Amino acid sequence: MTFSSAEKAAIASLWGKVSGHADEIGGEALERLFLSFPQTKTYFSHFDLSHGSKDLSAHGGKVLRAIGNAASHLDDISGALSALSDLHAYKLRVDPGNFKLLSHSIQVTLAIHFPAEFNADAQAAWDKFLSVVSSVLVSKYR
Ligand code: HEM
Repeated sequence: MTFSSAEKAAIASLWGKVSGHADEIGGEALERLFLSFPQTKTYFSHFDLSHGSKDLSAHGGKVLRAIGNAASHLDDISGALSALSDLHAYKLRVDPGNFKLLSHSIQVTLAIHFPAEFNADAQAAWDKFLSVVSSVLVSKYR
């Protein structure tokens, strides 16, 4: 999957705004995921999922920094996320449908924090980007 230069610019510019707040924004995206799609909590029974918990922000930060790593390697997302793809496929075995739910929650969180930047073009670019990230993370399932 390739990205146009306009898509690359939209991904880089919004990531530039998110990167300094990865724990906060990632934690909020996870909280939205767990509240909106409660079945996703089953993978995190060992976490404290209460509002504002350290587990939410620490894990949310990790997820968003992995997305930032992908944003910096748009021409080789599978290479950049290879280890993470092994983890999700061989160890965690997260149901692939959940990736769409997380991508949605991340986009809602971006929309709320960056309403001016999150216009229709940026939304389309991020939707495509997160769907590529998700397909890389489920690519090794068998
Ligand atoms: C772990 C990223 C989707 C469940 C992780 C880690 C990262 C990550 C960076 C930490 C790896 C480590 O500690 O070495 C992502 C990204 C996703 C994604 C970028 C998609 C955009 C999902 C989804 C679920 C999920 C949809 C389930 C609903 C988990 C679980 C762990 C994990 C259970 C282990 C948590 C722990 O015990 O520390 N993920 N993930 N992930 N992920 Fe994902």
